[in-house]
Amino acid sequence: MKKIGIATTGGDAPGMNAAIRAITRLASAHDIDVIGFEAGWDGLFANRYQKLTKRSVGGILHQGGTILRTSRSKVLHTEEGREKCAENLLINDIDGFFVIGGNGSMMAANLLSQHISHVPFIGIPGSIDNDVFGTDETFGFDSAVNTAVGQIDKIRDTAQSHDHIFITEVMGRKHGFIALDVGIAVGASYILVPEEPAADQIDDILATIRSNQDVGKKSGIIVAAEGVDMDCRDLASVIERQTDTTVRINILGYSQRGGSPTARSRLLATLYAKEGVRQILENPSNQMMGLTKGEIVGRNLDDIVGKERVINMSRLQYYRVLAS
Ligand code: F6P
Repeated sequence: MKKIGIATTGGDAPGMNAAIRAITRLASAHDIDVIGFEAGWDGLFANRYQKLTKRSVGGILHQGGTILRTSRSKVLHTEEGREKCAENLLINDIDGFFVIGGNGSMMAANLLSQHISHVPFIGIPGSIDNDVFGTDETFGFDSAVNTAVGQIDKIRDTAQSHDHIFITEVMGRKHGFIALDVGIAVGASYILVPEEPAADQIDDILATIRSNQDVGKKSGIIVAAEGVDMDCRDLASVIERQTDTTVRINILGYSQRGGSPTARSRLLATLYAKEGVRQILENPSNQMMGLTKGEIVGRNLDDIVGKERVINMSRLQYYRVLAS
């Protein structure tokens, strides 16, 4: 193994720089050259890259985003695009490729690998959404949860001062991983996830608010994932109509994706990189690194892609008992 490529693809996640740094430094320690393609698959397609060295990846561990930049590229959606990317791997004498990202990134790497069989692809799961099948936790998730919790703690001050109910929308277009953990950590009155139809929960939400009011608790926080099938404004007007409360909406949005990674996100990214480099040297094949029962292991990329990771519904039910 003489030269590897790295790309960060899909949505950015705090910890991507920690992964780039660790892969580069560990590979360099094995005398492997490293190049980083810019803006994800787009950079590979356009053959736009930068040489990464031990020194060039200094001072980035604590920074959010990705120094390589990223994109939601569609270049691998076509046969022509995949051929071009494979050709650029050949032109650059790449012996192994690290892709850092979420579900879409793993799927894309798996597709591309079919066009260039001698290059092993190593997936490093980084996404704020925590919805990558084959790992118990993606790096970046912990940072996003902590960012959201910090912001909701502030919102609670206003909620309590004004006796408002706040509906706070957190990220998660398809899954409720962020909403569930954030909701538990802030002591939300109610947690809404995309996995359950919102209309079925209205009665429960109203009952929770009324029973809270009966015991003198007039304010509250409802945490809703962005993918919930009901607009926050519609939910707010139902609550205002049916209970004696004022509702405010706060959409946390992209602030959850940025910012300095937490220690946990940095550590996970760094440990994924360690196992990734070990695997590419000792067992070069297409794999994604996954955290299972506290251990990081390589898992066959083919067994991962196209599968869904599901939220822990019993944790949600447990939480509803606490909040009711
Ligand atoms: O990275 C995943 C995610 O955070 C989703 O939760 C969210 O819906 C999405 O990114 C939005 O990002 P973009 O605008 O980059 O598609």
